[in-house]
Amino acid sequence: MRWFLQSECSNAYNWFMHDAKAEIIRLSALLTEYQRSYYIDGHSQVSDLEYDRLFDRLVALETSHPELREADSPTQRVGSDLDTSLAEREHTIPVLSLDKSYSASELLSWIEKTEKKGEKEVGIVIEEKIDGISIVLYYEDGLLDRALTRGNGFIGNDVTENVKTIASVPLSIPTTASVAVRGEIYLPKPSFDKINAEMEIPYANPRNLAAGTIRRNKSREVAKIPLQIFVYEGFWEGGQQTHLEILSQLSAWGFRLNKNLAYFHTDREMAASELQAADVAGSSGSFSDLASFIEEETAQRASLSYEIDGLVAKVNSLEAREKLGYTGHHPRWAMAYKFESPQAETVVEAIDVQVGRSGRVTPVARLRPVQLAGSVISNVTLHNQDYISMLELGVGDTVEISRRGDVIPAVERVLEKGEGGGLWHLPAHCPVCATPLVKSGAHTFCPNADCPAQVRGRIEFFAGKGGMDIENYGPETIAFLMELGVLTDIDDIYRIDYDATLSGAPGFGEKKIALIKEGVRESLSRPFKTVLVSLGIPELGKKGVEVLLDAGLDSMEKLLAVADANDTGRLVSIKQIGERSAELYIASLTEAAMRRRISALAELGLSMEATGDEERTTDDSFSGQTWCVTGSFEHFTPRSKAMEEVERRGGRTVSSVTAKTTHLLAGSGGGSKLDRAIELGVTVVDEETFISLLNKKDENLPKEQGELF
Ligand code: IVH
Repeated sequence: MRWFLQSECSNAYNWFMHDAKAEIIRLSALLTEYQRSYYIDGHSQVSDLEYDRLFDRLVALETSHPELREADSPTQRVGSDLDTSLAEREHTIPVLSLDKSYSASELLSWIEKTEKKGEKEVGIVIEEKIDGISIVLYYEDGLLDRALTRGNGFIGNDVTENVKTIASVPLSIPTTASVAVRGEIYLPKPSFDKINAEMEIPYANPRNLAAGTIRRNKSREVAKIPLQIFVYEGFWEGGQQTHLEILSQLSAWGFRLNKNLAYFHTDREMAASELQAADVAGSSGSFSDLASFIEEETAQRASLSYEIDGLVAKVNSLEAREKLGYTGHHPRWAMAYKFESPQAETVVEAIDVQVGRSGRVTPVARLRPVQLAGSVISNVTLHNQDYISMLELGVGDTVEISRRGDVIPAVERVLEKGEGGGLWHLPAHCPVCATPLVKSGAHTFCPNADCPAQVRGRIEFFAGKGGMDIENYGPETIAFLMELGVLTDIDDIYRIDYDATLSGAPGFGEKKIALIKEGVRESLSRPFKTVLVSLGIPELGKKGVEVLLDAGLDSMEKLLAVADANDTGRLVSIKQIGERSAELYIASLTEAAMRRRISALAELGLSMEATGDEERTTDDSFSGQTWCVTGSFEHFTPRSKAMEEVERRGGRTVSSVTAKTTHLLAGSGGGSKLDRAIELGVTVVDEETFISLLNKKDENLPKEQGELF
């Protein structure tokens, strides 16, 4: 009896396990198919509700039977909180780049030449050059084993866990062969616009957002971003003879191909039948159709839901490819045609680290000087470590630089790794004062408020044009006085005995000393609002000060009272002040060093309250200008805030870009308005420049736009 019961029980258990296993297999297959048809073919076979119900059931079964969870289960797409390794791993296929041409005619003559080189007539496949992140997917025994970024072509970063969350990447394929697949991960433009609008620091383009996402530490975060993939090359041991056959097999295995492909051959009929035989979506034609195809493709670029930066022509026959061979870094059987854009290629000769007056550490690339859209660029900001990691950038790399919105130069991507192929990392210590650096959010800071770089930055800002505007008190004078040890903070400016300190010093004649003294004396009578701006409170510029004064916070006493009471409510009750700014103002005004500075300046006789008879700035710096605003912004949400600023300064605002528009303020995801503005030659201004225009009355766009410093 006992025996009988036990056996019954274990049979029931077996039956139950078997049943669970069968259900897991059934649900996995069903959900994988639903995911495939939705993300690859673009149509859903079931309602969202039904999909979620099946998905939740599978999650529940896998949770109670973890040993039954398959490596390619569709539940793996949700990601996890475990750290993505990002470890460096070797590529087992050569990850080559493409040779480039810059005009359709150059591409056409390459095709013609390549055709002539072959013994037999060969067809040419033209694909779109997707502007995304290059990825190599490696499959072993039918399972996605690893996904590596391109890195330096030999070693890439392991981003497997993150890539698994991309629904159009097959987690398993029906073959046991070792397969490597190259493709491009990208973020569709509409998703970019939506996501970027909510980002604290918006990304300049979908590629950068996709690159940042794919390198995130938690795959669960990656799963929230609807990344996509197009694959375009496959490598495995098999009998395939043409590129079209490879694409066909990849498609049959469940990979997502770009349908905007075209196949050309001398013989139009032949092209059509080969394409049809391969069962690959696309169009076909004879070589005489090539030029008009390229023209059409170029024209429809803006209407695509993803970014492309050119076209790629590839020889179809693999045998012909082998004969054509390779140079060190690109195959001779393919050629990219890059669309024209204000871009240039140069080499990163060094990466310096700058420490700003707030302690923020900024890596700056020193470039081999290069001409770009009318000016020579030799420095470009790299923002922070995340930006550098996203680019996989190192010293010696050849990079592509562009002008964001035609104004600020930026490193767009690495074109070729330099010797050594290293990735650059911020130092652990402040390069100026050796204090260990600390990370806060995306940025890194030197926490030492006495760091000479910060002290100098503070003094330069205080005495500079945007601050007290002290005549003859420029960076050299400041550096000299700091070196002598007499200038350690801004109040020293009003204490130094300039005659005693500078007489006889090289470069400081009597006349110059007299001018310095005069400048300092004269600055003593600057109005309160200028003193307040000059203190360098984060994000408190001229406009912000006017707002505070208008709202009745018109003396240092009142401001300090608000700060000491930590009364953010009082500040945010002012329409133009947000929570973040309010917190920054209070933090700065309650700092001990800032309080010491303020007391010292008050004692020295600087103005600590608005007198009321000061002339209100009537700012008409935008008069005669017509501005259109597009995209999303960090500081102007909703963007009508930016329009108000324009109007307050006498400018007109309009909702579309026309020939009469003089300026386009372009935030992230500017889209069609940006294209139109570039087409019409309208001045495009980005947010940073816009803010500097708001703060600098009567100043036009910076003349030397390429220079950061
Ligand atoms: S083929 C050996 N096809 O462009 C040839 N590349 O500049 C391998 N890319 O690293 C590349 N779309 O990231 C190829 N349809 C396409 C492409 C494409 C985008 C990227 C790829 C590559 C870079 C080369």
